[in-house]
Amino acid sequence: MKMLQAMMLFVATLVMAQANASTDALTDAQAEKIRDRIKPIAEVCVQGDDCGGPVVAVVTGPRSGEAVYAAACTTCHAAGVAGAPKKGDVAAWDKRLAKGFDATLANAINGLNAMPAKGLCMDCSDDELTAAIKFMSGK
Ligand code: HEC
Repeated sequence: MKMLQAMMLFVATLVMAQANASTDALTDAQAEKIRDRIKPIAEVCVQGDDCGGPVVAVVTGPRSGEAVYAAACTTCHAAGVAGAPKKGDVAAWDKRLAKGFDATLANAINGLNAMPAKGLCMDCSDDELTAAIKFMSGK
């Protein structure tokens, strides 16, 4: 009896699948439109992959302190905007670092008064921020 039920279910499934195939068949144009609508908005392309187009993001490991500084910190730390300790101003940086490197790094990560969290480099890792601080302070 169980076997018979299973067979019936199997046949019913087959019939339904057949019905679906004949009534819901899409034209190529419709299928193309659907594929277009549900395609991912972006794809990650890593170095070495052939992504069939210009490479948008390349994962190359941590950026140097100089690169992070140039990209994110220079806006304020080159001229000393709003009291930001200037790059290469040893005395200013010594004062900042007197409380310890970790505490200074924590302020860079969390922000401090006019200093925005992570210096607005939201994709910077702690290591990259560390490198940038070392680059600016010369330590
Ligand atoms: C929008 C301007 C601005 C940007 C961009 C910015 N800073 Fe700052 N930063 C400041 C200001 C202003 C201070 C001084 C804050 C204070 O002491 O009131 C400061 C202070 C610091 C300090 C000292 C914190 C302490 O404990 O005394 C560190 C470290 C620092 N910034 C790191 C960075 C790094 C790294 C970047 C780039 C990733 C960066 N900042 C980008 C404005 C900025």
